[in-house]
Amino acid sequence: MRSSIMPMSNPPVLIDTARVQARVQEIARSIEADLAGHELTVICILKGSFIFCADLIRAIHLPVKCEFMGLSSYHGGKTSSGEVKVTLDMKEPIEGCHVLVVEDIVDTGLTLQYILNALKLRQPASLRCASFLLKREALQSDLKVDYVGFEIPNRFVVGYGLDYQELYRNLPYIGVLD
Ligand code: IMP
Ligand code: MG
Repeated sequence: MRSSIMPMSNPPVLIDTARVQARVQEIARSIEADLAGHELTVICILKGSFIFCADLIRAIHLPVKCEFMGLSSYHGGKTSSGEVKVTLDMKEPIEGCHVLVVEDIVDTGLTLQYILNALKLRQPASLRCASFLLKREALQSDLKVDYVGFEIPNRFVVGYGLDYQELYRNLPYIGVLD
């Protein structure tokens, strides 16, 4: 939808590009250590995690298959509806596979909890999750995120895949909008 309000061109920096990139490498090393000797099936949760996922899989030196799932939990604004909709499912079964779900951000945790519960039923050999950002204060479930890029305050952030009304995904850093 076309918006008549001009978006902010350079939101203030919360995490700069160099820190973003350095942290991706560190997460990749942890994943390699935990999954050494295995083939990994990475599930990229669209749309928000596409940039993190693209950087992460290129940094992981293990055999990697990449799948995509579309989930929608936000409806254009800055608050979570708590309701999760699967908008795109995978074609390949994951039974017996070592699976890593890749998310952009964990806010209430409802989205990731929902998808992990659903994937568990498909009987993967192991199931882990990575989220680039985590707002611990907002977390509403006892979800354990295996790999976290950064814990951030409860603010609305954009960039590195994260959007506000579909804008800002292309910023190479994490910026704040509120
Ligand atoms: P949760 O289900 O409340 O954990 O929300 C997770 C989803 O909400 C993420 O995958 C994002 O799409 C979106 N989200 C949560 N916080 C933010 C934010 O600060 N900026 C942009 N999107 C967000
Ligand atoms: Mg998302």
